[in-house]
Amino acid sequence: MRKNIVAGNWKMNTTVAEGVELAKAVAAGSSEVPSSVELIIAPPFTHLVPVAEVVGGTRIGLSAQNCADKEKGAYTGEVSADMLVSAGCKYTILGHSERRQYYGETDATLVDKVKLAISKGLSPIFCVGENLDEREAGRHFDVVSEQIKNVLYTLSADEMAKVIIAYEPVWAIGTGKTATAAQAQEIHACIRKVVADKFGALAEEITILYGGSCKPGNAKELFACPDIDGGLIGGAALKAEDFIAIALSF
Ligand code: PGA
Repeated sequence: MRKNIVAGNWKMNTTVAEGVELAKAVAAGSSEVPSSVELIIAPPFTHLVPVAEVVGGTRIGLSAQNCADKEKGAYTGEVSADMLVSAGCKYTILGHSERRQYYGETDATLVDKVKLAISKGLSPIFCVGENLDEREAGRHFDVVSEQIKNVLYTLSADEMAKVIIAYEPVWAIGTGKTATAAQAQEIHACIRKVVADKFGALAEEITILYGGSCKPGNAKELFACPDIDGGLIGGAALKAEDFIAIALSF
């Protein structure tokens, strides 16, 4: 049985003090959420250690939003997978469209990041998704399939078993435009098929999250789809009440 997960991507928001308060509020609300739903929060790097203290001993998993493609050494400004593990992370988001778009992350770099993260014991939350032009040209299935093949097809089955996939159509991120449940379901089913083509039955065990303007008002319809196993939540994860309401939508 694959897991249902709701993960909050805080992006570059909140001060350390605000982040600690938000984590406390999420921890307080988490008792309402059935234990079948896994909760993850991904604060900025500066917040990880104090937030780890807040969520330590709770059911909330800690994630980073990115990690270096190199193990250690003279890479000014980078944060390594070992550092994330030592700060209390179990997960890291990788390949978010904002990293691909604004910081030039390529599939080639992501292969190194994903493999390194897994080798250090982190589960990557690997993001894929098409932009508006690609969607309008009807190329979304191809774009997403290529992103999966270029990165995840380089993994062994044991490595792949650690991966969570997040489908995030770029045109829906932070825009208030959500993919309809039908649009999201058809592409999630395609992603699972692409994973199955390489990894067989393992595809049924892989959690595939939807992300892009997911909120309390639309989460239920999205999560009811057979291939949507939860959400990667941006804006709505900055309000504990909304984040918990989304987690209650299964
Ligand atoms: P959003 O962001 O929920 O604010 O659209 C989702 C994401 O980018 O992870």
